[in-house]
Amino acid sequence: MEYKWCVRETPFQPERLNQLETIFTIGNGCMGVRGSFEEGYPGDAPLFLIHGLFNRPDEDSVPELVNVPSWLDLKIAINGATFGLDAGRVLGYERTLDMRRAVLRRHVLWQAPNGPIVRFRFERFASMARRRVLAMRVEITPVDASTTVEIKSRLGKADPTHWTDVLVGHRSPSDAFLRARTRDSGYRLGMETRLLIEPAAQMHAAEDDGWPINSARIAATAGQTITVTKLAAVHTSRDAHDPPAAARQTLDEASAAGYSALYREHIAAWDKLWAHTDVEIEGDDFAQLAIRFALYHLLIAAPRDDERASIGAKALSGPGYKGHVFWDTELFALAPLIYTQPDLARNLLMYRYHLLPGARAKAAENGFEGAMYPWESADTGEETTPRWTTPPPGGHRERIWTGEREIHISADVAYAVDHYWKISGDDNFMAEYGAEIVLDTAVFWGSRAEYNEAEDRFEINHVIGPDEYHEDVNNSAFTNVMAQWNIRAALDVLDWLRRNHPVRAEELSQKLGLGPERLSHWREVAEKMYVPRDGDVLLEFDGFFDLEPVDVEAYRPRIPSLQAIYGTPFVQRSQVIKQADVVMLIALLGEELGPPEMLRANWDVYAPRCDHGSSLSAAIHSLVAARLGLIEQAYELWLMAAGVDLENNKGNTADGIHAAAAGGLWQATVFGFAGLGFADDRPTLDPHLPPHWRKLRFRIKYRGTLHEVTIAENGVKVSSGPAS
Ligand code: BGC
Repeated sequence: MEYKWCVRETPFQPERLNQLETIFTIGNGCMGVRGSFEEGYPGDAPLFLIHGLFNRPDEDSVPELVNVPSWLDLKIAINGATFGLDAGRVLGYERTLDMRRAVLRRHVLWQAPNGPIVRFRFERFASMARRRVLAMRVEITPVDASTTVEIKSRLGKADPTHWTDVLVGHRSPSDAFLRARTRDSGYRLGMETRLLIEPAAQMHAAEDDGWPINSARIAATAGQTITVTKLAAVHTSRDAHDPPAAARQTLDEASAAGYSALYREHIAAWDKLWAHTDVEIEGDDFAQLAIRFALYHLLIAAPRDDERASIGAKALSGPGYKGHVFWDTELFALAPLIYTQPDLARNLLMYRYHLLPGARAKAAENGFEGAMYPWESADTGEETTPRWTTPPPGGHRERIWTGEREIHISADVAYAVDHYWKISGDDNFMAEYGAEIVLDTAVFWGSRAEYNEAEDRFEINHVIGPDEYHEDVNNSAFTNVMAQWNIRAALDVLDWLRRNHPVRAEELSQKLGLGPERLSHWREVAEKMYVPRDGDVLLEFDGFFDLEPVDVEAYRPRIPSLQAIYGTPFVQRSQVIKQADVVMLIALLGEELGPPEMLRANWDVYAPRCDHGSSLSAAIHSLVAARLGLIEQAYELWLMAAGVDLENNKGNTADGIHAAAAGGLWQATVFGFAGLGFADDRPTLDPHLPPHWRKLRFRIKYRGTLHEVTIAENGVKVSSGPAS
């Protein structure tokens, strides 16, 4: 049913303006357009983002994803009165994100201050079939009187912090163009828009404050609909040699096809995506909507045409974290793509492959060997974590240490490569690209591990684990176990290469220096890697239990984290954990880490100490709780993860969608509630559904076979066929 595919806002909720701009983002894996209104309002935060288009605003700042000049601006006046939700009377209002079709619509019945009542239907989409095309349509129908309708469409503005060499103009009264270049990074941009009005109206080309305007004035009788169509084409030097010429051609082709054809082909492309990625939940309408919402945002954010772009922590929907890419992509957002859209998953891993030189440079700068991936990454592969926080008004800035110390990301990337390989069976990718990542990150760990002679063990000191509340710890269980895992995976991959791709094995051994000495060092490091523990319970890091205990449970319910309430020194000296850390290890390694009782013992210690100060936390806790059979708790945590953006339960949805929470929600559903695993090339399931979920259905691709899994009250059904 349609309502299970639609996020709705009714009535207009101006107090949620910025949050809803994020929620109602449209996109196509190339471009993302926040759900700001065509007519613009004070306090709105419109943003038009294109994958990979980073620029450094000044020498002292890190690169950020730039706001591309707007194609969206459209002002409408009725008998001279400008349409706006803050003027006249809004008699009816409904905004809907139709996720099945990836179309944003708004219906408004409005009474102009000077009397007439007019119906507006807005619609917009970023074409999934032509990924450089954006389209919008507005139908304007005077209801009770004849009126004049004025339409004014603008292209621009370009923020001078990021853009230079801006050139704008008109090709015809209905067209506008814009050319520009990013100041520091030098990306060239070409944009073209075309305005079409039915019935035909006389169009005028003009300027507003230097930005090109296309306008028209038309008389409409009561009941007559004026249809305004605005098409935009956008190319950059990341995809085209001559972006202005490419934009011109793309626009001409799109307008020759016409809005209806563009709409149809866009929907057909989305039908194909959902055919594999949709998850159906019966018995819980909120859960159904929430899982689709999560998958929609991943599908609009996952880059299609650009191997040098990845999904930022805030997807392509907001300014948060400046568009930077974290481990959120590899360990949270990637899994649903590995299993349902493997081409998109591969593309994301290629981003890390192409940025190996940056990772090698970081290792060398820090005195290590191999590939040390940046904690935050943009378009070049260099470390882009800012060194300082932006101070709050009247407050002081704080040092950010993650760029130097949160080094587990290198193992996380290797884990993701291996995960993709195991599930897709894409040996070609592994031999050509993936193996180099797994091997060279192992080279890094081999050089980073410190030998403690007195204890005859390897340690990794002065790091930050996933729990970022503790900023300089020794022997983080997560980091050390993942480093050990990375080295062992490298030994296995090298072995596989030697057996199956001996030439490539030799080539990589030469290139990365994988001689017998290195390999025996790896074996020793893996064997003697120190993982602090107290019986069955891993120590999150050395000395964790010497810190002050805090009754985290007493602080629920709550939006701000304990760090936000009490400050950094408080969380640093306490046993409060920001997010899944040892619990994250359980999610990644399961019984490779230890038998079920051991996993449960660790859960019992760590789950109550977690403050879920990060949006990454709840879904992973839900997954692990479900696997441990703690269904009520798992469901509560699932709802917490589902509410990160839909309910703004971290209070910062305005900054952008939390891509990791979105990917985590799929993982909690499929790995947690459905208990998906594999044995003998077949999926295995260990379902623990919340009792009111009558049915859960999803599809997964495993080594060339598509499996449709249905878990219902009457049992589990898997139908299998070739994956297209
Ligand atoms: C989390 C990190 C995450 C980052 C970006 C931080 O608050 O602690 O794990 O990578 O946000 O989402």
